[in-house]
Parts: sequence; structure tokens; C-alpha cells
Amino acid sequence: MTTTAVGIDIGGTGIKGAIVDVATGELLTDRKKLATPDGGKPDDILDTVLALFDELGDVSADAPVGVCFPAIILNGRTMSAANVSKKWIGLEAEKLFEQKLGRDIHFVNDADAAGVAEARYGAAVGAKGLTILTTLGTGIGSAMLFNGVLIPNSELGHLELDGHDAEHLASTSAKEKDDLSWTEWAKRLQRYYEHLEFVFSPDLLLVGGGISKSSDEFLPLLKLRTPIKPAMLRNNAGIVGAAALAVA
Ligand code: BGC
Repeated sequence: MTTTAVGIDIGGTGIKGAIVDVATGELLTDRKKLATPDGGKPDDILDTVLALFDELGDVSADAPVGVCFPAIILNGRTMSAANVSKKWIGLEAEKLFEQKLGRDIHFVNDADAAGVAEARYGAAVGAKGLTILTTLGTGIGSAMLFNGVLIPNSELGHLELDGHDAEHLASTSAKEKDDLSWTEWAKRLQRYYEHLEFVFSPDLLLVGGGISKSSDEFLPLLKLRTPIKPAMLRNNAGIVGAAALAVA
């Protein structure tokens, strides 16, 4: 069975990719990164993904390729667009990426890919019951896993909190935009995670996204009944999960 696959993670600010050993979840190449084109329009993102793919060097023609994207993905179509151009809504995006790259791909939501990576190689290996991973970044992504099995497209970053979309209050971009200290931000996170806890009664909460490397600054400030831990794969989770799903 193939154990090498390409993972590409499309985000609101950057597009990242690497070749991954899906037996271990480790990157076999440096992670390449290009900026997400302003406006996040389909043609521009497709061109950037092709440029990134070329930067990965020699990828064998039969290597599985997984691409993850910040939207609801239903039957290969992008059904939402929170931090990219609205032109993505309803597009047959999987087909467009396949045409652009000239090969089949596996297409999945970015946070779902990250959740799968944590369940296979990271902080949720062997976790029983309901695990909810939230990725804090430009938006808030979510992955729900029950006994390690993904329940796709959960979109818990868009729960309404005090009349606002939760990601507008509690994402990393909200922290930056409103110039919040760790303590101020933690109050918003407290409100958000308390709400998740009340609605879903998870067994484990994981916090991913680039900011999770500073989790010591904010996780100890949260008071929840559910164990809450940093995700382990950090910025590589989307790449690794997309690659793993392309092989599965
Ligand atoms: C999108 C999600 C995505 C998350 C993280 C949200 O705004 O709606 O689909 O997973 O951002 O990128």
C-alpha cells in the first residue's frame, strides 16, 4: 500500500503543502508556503496551488493528493466561503483542482483534515467518545470525531454567540483586530468553549491553529469541565490530514 502522499492546505492567508509519510504522519519534505492571493478568488487560488505543487519537486504521477479548503465541502463542491471569495459558493471545486493539477485529488474541509490528523497521529489518538477540535486562525474551524470517526462539515466557528458569529469574536484574527491581551481573549474563548461544552458535552476539546504553540498563555485561563489540550500537529495538521485521507 502507498504510504506517501501530498497534502495541500488552503487557508485564508497562506497555502501550504508537503509530501507526507502517511504511516507516521511525518513530513518527508520541507513545508512550502505561498501567500493566499488577495480576495481569494477561484482562478487565483487554483494558479497558486499549481505553483505550490510545482515547488514540491518530483511528485510521482500516481502519488495520492489531498487538498483541504476552508469551506463546507459536499460532493466535491464548496458550499460556503467565510474567508475566501464568495465566488467559491456552489463551485465544483474538486473537479477544478483536478483539472488544474492534471490528477485526481481528495478534497476535504481544512479543520476536518486537521481533526483526522490529530486522531491518527496526534493529541486524539485512541480518544473515546466525542472529541471536538477547534482551529483558531483567520476563522474558527471545527472537526467532530466520535471514537475517532469524523462527522464532517461541523462549522462550529459559526455558532452564534451574543448576536455574533463566534469566529468574529474569538478567532486569532479577532484577537489581533481588537488588539486583545491574552486575558481579554481568554474571556471570549471561555464564553465560546463553555457554549460548545453546554451544547455537545464533548469528552475532549483540542485547540489547533498556529496560535496553539502559545497555548500556555491562554489554556490555563479557561475553566471548563472538559479536558482541553493543544493539538499536536500545529500548522502541519491540515497538510497531514489531507494527505492521510487521500490514501485512506
Ligand atoms: C470556515 C470553515 C473553516 C474555518 C477554518 C471558517 O470560516 O467556515 O469551513 O474550516 O474557517 O479555516
